[in-house]
Amino acid sequence: MRKGTNREAANLWRRPSRIVLAVSIDESDNPNIIVLGWKMQTSIHPPMVAISIGKTRYSHGLLLSSGEFVLAIPGRDLAEEVLYCGTHSGRDVDKFKETNLTAISASKVKPPLIKECIANIECKIVGNLDTGDHTIFVGEVQANWVSEEEQKNLLSIGQEAGYEIMLDKKGRRFGVIR
Ligand SMILES: Cc1cc2nc3c(=O)[nH]c(=O)nc-3n(C[C@H](O)[C@H](O)[C@H](O)COP(=O)(O)O)c2cc1C
Repeated sequence: MRKGTNREAANLWRRPSRIVLAVSIDESDNPNIIVLGWKMQTSIHPPMVAISIGKTRYSHGLLLSSGEFVLAIPGRDLAEEVLYCGTHSGRDVDKFKETNLTAISASKVKPPLIKECIANIECKIVGNLDTGDHTIFVGEVQANWVSEEEQKNLLSIGQEAGYEIMLDKKGRRFGVIR
């Protein structure tokens, strides 16, 4: 073992990582999309998820003021759109317009779903936690939507080239990403 940097060690345990999108709205109901690598499921009953948002992001203020978001799960076909949303701010651009992603009305929250995504999860924010330069927002799931199209591979970031099964036993499948 040798001493490593924070970035080196973090990349070893968090890459590759699945990418999600969070949609929030401003006071005029204009929607904005942020790309997130930092997310997790935190409860089954009731279903809850947590997302970690940088305090400098435009989305940070929208989440604080609106109290709702939609977690949208992109497939591998949305890589260009995801790159755009993750490298531009809603302060400067309308990301739905620029990417041609389609906003469709949600059932329980004001931010819209993204039609092209594999799944959309409507969430109401029930708590938040200050963690350094990010805030963790905890959302309670209000409704779930899944695509009726053929299942697409989920989009990840990092070095990923397949999944090799090492042990498939007792209903658990362990493997390594090649
Ligand atoms: C692959 C990827 C993962 C990202 N993960 C996060 C994240 O977990 N939390 C975060 O605050 N920003 C994350 N970002 C950065 C934001 O998506 C980016 O700063 C975005 O432009 C912010 O948009 P906004 O200013 O419209 O909110 C990520 C970007 C990319 C490309």
